[in-house]
Amino acid sequence: MKKIVAFLTGVFFCLNLISQTVVVNLTCEKRKNPLGIDVGNPRLSWQLTGKQRNLIQTAYQIKVTGEGSSAVWLSEKVVSSRSILIPYAGKTLETGRKYNWQVKVWDNFGKASAWSETASWEMGLLKPEDWKAKWIRPGFEEDSVMRPSPILRKQFSATKKITSARAFITSHGLYEAFINGKRVGDSYLTPGWTSYNKRLQYQVYDITSLLLPGSNTIGVALGSGWYRGHLAWQENKNLYGRSLDLLLQCIITYSDGSSENIISDESWHSSLGPIRYSELYDGEINDARLDKTGWLTNSYDESKWSNVQVQDLPKEHLIATRNEPVRMHEHFPAKRIFTTPKGELVVDFGQNLVGFAQLTVSGKAGDSIKLYHAEVLDKAGNFYTENLRVAKQENIYILKGEGQEIFEPHFTFQGFRFVKVVGFPGDLKPENIKAVALYSDMEPTGTFTSSNSLINQLQRNIQWGQKGNFLDVPTDCPQRDERLGWTGDAQVFARTAAFNMDVHNFFAKWLQDLAADQSTDGSIPHVIPNVLGQNASGSAGWADAGVIIPWTMYVHYGDTNILAQQYTSMKNWIGFMQKNSNNFLWNKGFHFGDWLFYRPGDDNDGRAAVTDKYLISQCFFANSTQLMVNAATVLGRSEDVKLYSNLLKNVKDAFMKEYLTPSGRLVSSTQTAYVLALNFDMLPEELRKQAAARLAQNVKDYNNHLTTGFLGTPYLCHVLSRFGYADVAFKLLMQETYPSWLYPVKMGATTIWERWDGQKPDSSFQTPGMNSFNHYAYGAIGDWMYRIVAGIDTEDSAPGYKRIRIMPHLGGNFTEVQASYLSDYGLIRSHWKIDGNSFQFDVEIPANTSAKIFIPGGEVDGITETTKPLSSLKDIKVIGKEGEYFVIEIGSGKYSFSTGKPLLTQN
Ligand code: BGC
Repeated sequence: MKKIVAFLTGVFFCLNLISQTVVVNLTCEKRKNPLGIDVGNPRLSWQLTGKQRNLIQTAYQIKVTGEGSSAVWLSEKVVSSRSILIPYAGKTLETGRKYNWQVKVWDNFGKASAWSETASWEMGLLKPEDWKAKWIRPGFEEDSVMRPSPILRKQFSATKKITSARAFITSHGLYEAFINGKRVGDSYLTPGWTSYNKRLQYQVYDITSLLLPGSNTIGVALGSGWYRGHLAWQENKNLYGRSLDLLLQCIITYSDGSSENIISDESWHSSLGPIRYSELYDGEINDARLDKTGWLTNSYDESKWSNVQVQDLPKEHLIATRNEPVRMHEHFPAKRIFTTPKGELVVDFGQNLVGFAQLTVSGKAGDSIKLYHAEVLDKAGNFYTENLRVAKQENIYILKGEGQEIFEPHFTFQGFRFVKVVGFPGDLKPENIKAVALYSDMEPTGTFTSSNSLINQLQRNIQWGQKGNFLDVPTDCPQRDERLGWTGDAQVFARTAAFNMDVHNFFAKWLQDLAADQSTDGSIPHVIPNVLGQNASGSAGWADAGVIIPWTMYVHYGDTNILAQQYTSMKNWIGFMQKNSNNFLWNKGFHFGDWLFYRPGDDNDGRAAVTDKYLISQCFFANSTQLMVNAATVLGRSEDVKLYSNLLKNVKDAFMKEYLTPSGRLVSSTQTAYVLALNFDMLPEELRKQAAARLAQNVKDYNNHLTTGFLGTPYLCHVLSRFGYADVAFKLLMQETYPSWLYPVKMGATTIWERWDGQKPDSSFQTPGMNSFNHYAYGAIGDWMYRIVAGIDTEDSAPGYKRIRIMPHLGGNFTEVQASYLSDYGLIRSHWKIDGNSFQFDVEIPANTSAKIFIPGGEVDGITETTKPLSSLKDIKVIGKEGEYFVIEIGSGKYSFSTGKPLLTQN
């Protein structure tokens, strides 16, 4: 009997467990257990998991405890299905403190979860006075030509038993810190790049395990980096300052409850280390013979080192780090080591990437090895660096000569697939060299694979374009003497980027720099952080990043705060356009226009793809104004809704008067003109159909080729599919001759190119002055692949994928497409497959969301879900036929639909 009871109890327990909703993946400000939060009301998010379909949260309760488990916030049981970005609303949070938190939820099955596992966050140094540390600078005179990297050290004693320790560090220039010889943290290129003189980030590290009882040594190396290194063109240096400085504060907490600060101050010493030269564009020279052996250990004799100078420098602009740091990611072994026709020794890593080559070598002291980096080989198969312009991308390592040595650079990065090696002692073997990718440590969230291997390679190229150019700021390219946060490129790619990786914090931080660098007249610079000067600003489609990206982040992540954060900046930008308009026509100033559009022979029959730049600016003026209306609506600012709605009407009227003929033609008869006018709803309803027909005809006239540049390309396929020309859009996607997305793929590209014809069919190159092979802008087609081909989208009215929409489009001879997106609620998946005469469509919807699913073709009677007729399933709401789709509504869970092969008019 006892056994039976035990058995039944066990079964009951298991059943209970199966149906139990569990709360997982707790995050604070979209980071896991972050250190260094400096907002007063950090936002908390979690996910629900449970076996049952249609799982929805009906209420939640949050518990936050501070030091000694004292409760600082126990929320009410809040009746709400909201589970992301809920602002903390307890007692005032204190500087440097750790807070633990848990959440409990109730679900629509009437069950309560257990309290979740405990997560935590730690506050940063909230006020300038919390910084006890002093800014310090090396105490010796610098070699002002080579500007070698200084090193600084301090020995100190931890007198009692340590329970925890944190280091808060920032610098002018880049820093790398070590405690007792071990690297502090695994971030690279810290403190990252911001508009330094207005906003300087510090990082927080848990250094508890690096400290020893008794004597300890802390050492820091500094490099020029973005702060004072060469940036942009000419001999543009010292953009933020001339000297390298360090600010460091370690807070050690002892087991008796006391604490001690170890700070940067006059007690430190400074010297030079092995890094003789270091520049982002040009690379690093590391002479290992100059290594100060043992400088990171306690027994080191620093008597010959210089003192440091304490500097009275500001701390008011110090901020905690909001985005994920740059970290090491993929490691690539040498794919091929070969000698070029010119006789040079070259390593091919098989992937164009950003980071550095790491060398393992043994040789004599003084042997010097040079590593040159390039993206491509030329027509003859030789190492090609002309497109780097003046960036040298050259690392030099001079051996110490003491057995095996490992070299990697510290304060530079290179964009490359090929490395030319000069001076390697002996034979270079695969084990001597590998390539290491560096990029901001954003969580990978999106996948897309299909039955077409070229498209799969295109998707890999899009992702590698993102990896290579999301290096603390979104850069245009990572290799030549540029690598700047070009606003236009960033806005063009933002939505695609947001599918592939979690870019919320990355952009939230960069947008703050955008607002900080915005001119007083509202103009937004071409690059952020702005290193091109006050006048380099205000170009349509570039400056609009200040409106488009906040809106994109809101739609993608459901974060209203980012709209509130950027609201003034957005308004100011609209104000700038308005002030520079004549009767609402913005036809002034410098504009890049449809940058790098493909130019099909200006000469022959007037069909050149040159789009009037002011027609473009008017379209962006309208689009930003529309997004302003949207943002004002979301934030409940009704006065602004009225104001901007009126403005929008006037801007569109002015557009029609100036750029539209009475019969509905645009003055520029280009793809981009029609794409922008249609995408931004510039035309009256009755003229849209014929405008779309003109666009489709234009594409056909070019034999199914695009002619668009940076501004037209992102919307081209969207406009075609929206107006019933998905077949034309698929032809563009599948086009293999240039200009097209697959042309570079056929040419062996492993990233997205800046130019449609960066390398021509005869393997010669486009003009070297503007020919990057790692420029993500044209990768914006990804957004169409994910939202239209795989069909995964969020409803804008329930942003952040709270209400999902899955509406796949079949075409392009795809027989199978599979995509997934890891939203803040959990995994969303769309997988469709045509198998003979049947169509299989699997979807996955995360808990606490709902979805509208569009099943291509099919009638309710012909559709089954895991073999059961659709009509028999209670947990699926049937809506009915909409065009070529059969529409249903579902909640969370995994579903597998089958139907007959859809007859498609769109293919
Ligand atoms: C950059 C671009 C940028 C452009 C402005 C170029 O040098 O690489 O991607 O948007 O300038 O036109």
